[in-house]
Amino acid sequence: MDDKLFLMIPGPTPIPERALLAMAKAPVGHRSSEFAKIMEEVSENLRWLHQTTGDVITLASSGTGAIEAAIVNACSPGDRVLIGANGKFGERWVEVAKVFGLQIELISAPYGQALSTEAFRIALEADTEKTIKAVILTHNETSTGVTNDLETIAGYIRAHGEAVSIVDAVTSLGATNVPVDAWGLDFVGSGSQKAYMIPPGLAFLSVSEKGWKACERSTMPRFYFDLRQYRKALKKNNTPFTTPVNLVYALQVTLQMLKAEGLEPLFNRHAHLRDATRAALRALGLNLFNPDDASASAAITAVLPPSEIPCAKLRSTMKKHFDIVIAGGQGEMESSIVRFGHLGFVSGRDIVTGIAALEGSLHILGYDHFAKGSGVTAALDVLAS
Ligand SMILES: Cc1ncc(COP(=O)(O)O)c(C=O)c1O
Repeated sequence: MDDKLFLMIPGPTPIPERALLAMAKAPVGHRSSEFAKIMEEVSENLRWLHQTTGDVITLASSGTGAIEAAIVNACSPGDRVLIGANGKFGERWVEVAKVFGLQIELISAPYGQALSTEAFRIALEADTEKTIKAVILTHNETSTGVTNDLETIAGYIRAHGEAVSIVDAVTSLGATNVPVDAWGLDFVGSGSQKAYMIPPGLAFLSVSEKGWKACERSTMPRFYFDLRQYRKALKKNNTPFTTPVNLVYALQVTLQMLKAEGLEPLFNRHAHLRDATRAALRALGLNLFNPDDASASAAITAVLPPSEIPCAKLRSTMKKHFDIVIAGGQGEMESSIVRFGHLGFVSGRDIVTGIAALEGSLHILGYDHFAKGSGVTAALDVLAS
């Protein structure tokens, strides 16, 4: 059916109608006083969402641009960096660091498992010469549904003193608590198509005072992503280059919605949706790719379909019969898992619908090893709690 597709992927995420309508306005000039006024409000609300009194830069790019911007501004060619990788996105930051000639020390964990905080502590404490200049890690590894213990690792980075933290919070910011100032985070990157509830095209990067000092020291060549230009423009509620004005219209609206909801209810809602999804999948007898509840992502849940059902078949059945799009795996898990996004403009109704569609699709594909309605019932039980 036309226009009926519902995205249950971890981004782009569903968009509220009032944000879609806001984008339908004719754009004002990006150097106009009208636009500066909007940017002033947006910047203040971005600081609220990041829980910082520092700067939050808006970039015309996707989330990857925010992290690349942090890397090229914080580091100089040949710098030693510590990178945590337990999935596709952690691996991406290794690739970026290689491209820019950084000396990489890798802390890895298998797909589906959290990074060891101890490994960070040991590596950072062993660096008595303070040669590690940055620690790069992904807070919520979207490819697997694992949230790394950023709070603990951030404490070790602060104790090291020299290294700055570069955090990929693309699917955690706005879904999970990321108190930038309280945890002393230096660079925190995220993207508009996730918890911000607007289309792809904008990225956000908070920068601490320590982060700005690193930007000044960096000898890395950079132009479009030279953050110092963005800082200067931000003081005048502007950006150095043309901002996608209509996306900012939508952002103004969704930040107001998030603020009205409040930080704690926002994080609780995501946790509740995650718990309902996990309970439902377990009730259907399916194996969660990350069985550890303590590190389970509030944004996305990955599950292994029954061995006789190929992931692609399950996804196409959900789409064909129920107009619901779920994501496949990424990296080494590309054809082994499917992923349910429950990030952004999502409510209990969406989880119940998604689980019902999963039950229906499994049934259509001839898999009947569960009591009909058991997944939906489990989800409803959690949602009612
Ligand atoms: C954890 C994480 N990091 C980085 C990215 C890359 O973001 P983008 O595709 O917006 O560049 C994503 C996208 O899903 C992500 O989930």
